[in-house]
Amino acid sequence: MHDFRRLARRRLPRVIFEAIEAAADDAWTRHRNTDAFATYELSGRYLVDVSNVDPSTTILGERVASPVMIAPTALNRVYHPDGELGVARAASAAGTIYSLSAAASTSIEAIGQATDTAKWFQIYVWRDRGILRDFIDRCREQRYSALCLTVDSPVLGNREIDQRNGIQVPPRLRLGGMIEAAMHPRWVQGYLRQPRIDMVNVTATAGAPGAAGAELSDLVSSQIDASVTWRDLEWMIGYWNGPFAVKGIQHPGDARQAARLGVGAIVVSNHGGRQLDGAAATIDLLPSIVDAVAPDVEVLLDSGIRRGTDVLKAIALGARACMIGRPYLYGLAAGGEAGVRRVLDLIQAEIYRDLALLGCNTLDSLDRSAIARAAIPT
Ligand SMILES: Cc1cc2nc3c(=O)[nH]c(=O)nc-3n(C[C@H](O)[C@H](O)[C@H](O)COP(=O)(O)O)c2cc1C
Repeated sequence: MHDFRRLARRRLPRVIFEAIEAAADDAWTRHRNTDAFATYELSGRYLVDVSNVDPSTTILGERVASPVMIAPTALNRVYHPDGELGVARAASAAGTIYSLSAAASTSIEAIGQATDTAKWFQIYVWRDRGILRDFIDRCREQRYSALCLTVDSPVLGNREIDQRNGIQVPPRLRLGGMIEAAMHPRWVQGYLRQPRIDMVNVTATAGAPGAAGAELSDLVSSQIDASVTWRDLEWMIGYWNGPFAVKGIQHPGDARQAARLGVGAIVVSNHGGRQLDGAAATIDLLPSIVDAVAPDVEVLLDSGIRRGTDVLKAIALGARACMIGRPYLYGLAAGGEAGVRRVLDLIQAEIYRDLALLGCNTLDSLDRSAIARAAIPT
């Protein structure tokens, strides 16, 4: 995974790479997400027959080869022309679930038809509620397996690096960016050969925002509805009438409230540190949230997963599965669909190996007896 980050950094113009890395304020939470995993230690049990390890599980009723799925991320065609289609195909080939972002650069329909495996659609609630109804109807038509509402973004986080770099939709490079682009001809070629990059699912809808050339932060801030509440969630769950997940939960009280409304899964997430800086690492929040709602609700986790052992620490603390964001974007930038596939293969191989090293044949046999807070602070 670390190699893919280095490769992505080499392949992308600086401002584009920094858009992946971007985090809120001082990036304290982004660092904390990864650092916190190092404060837990695992203890394996040995002389157990682990010749038949099976890391598969189900997420909202869909079987996955391992407990890692794709987190929704915006505008993937910026990083490589394979974009969301490449990521969805790689996820399908790796036997896992794909999530399409509401801010994606590929349509709900194109992704719906690209694979016949399970996929989620992630919703942001736009000011124009017609867009929301339209999203849900289109997902139903395309047989998406679940909807996922992201709740940690009533307003956009303060990503100063994006503001300094003047990230726009569709992306345009300023003078410094031009020099950068000249140094990355392969990226420029891929970028120029594809149709205009914008938030197609939003711009395809009548009366949609989509103003060309708008600063990303202004566009999103002006269009995302900050007045969304639990009542809207209740309406969405009823209107969709199928498997539903809420992403961005960070408090046991919110987890309980979501459970009362009937969501099937929650994702403990701080958006990879891109929203509220100062938010706790998700791995530290996980046990109290699991205790509040599992097993009635499946608890997933993202933010900071970089290794198979990170996933297994989350499973040991009661998570059903994890999502990855930046790791697959590094793979996409480095090698398109094949790069994403490689990232997924690597993390799945780590999970398989580490499960055996823990003395477990299945995820079910991994519990809190295998994990403790490290005695020595890192
Ligand atoms: C470039 C980028 C774009 C993202 N866009 C979205 C998005 O559109 N919707 C969403 O719910 N989360 C979005 N996220 C957050 C991810 O879904 C996920 O929570 C986060 O990346 C997990 O942390 P990680 O990157 O450390 O794995 C984005 C993250 C990144 C890095």
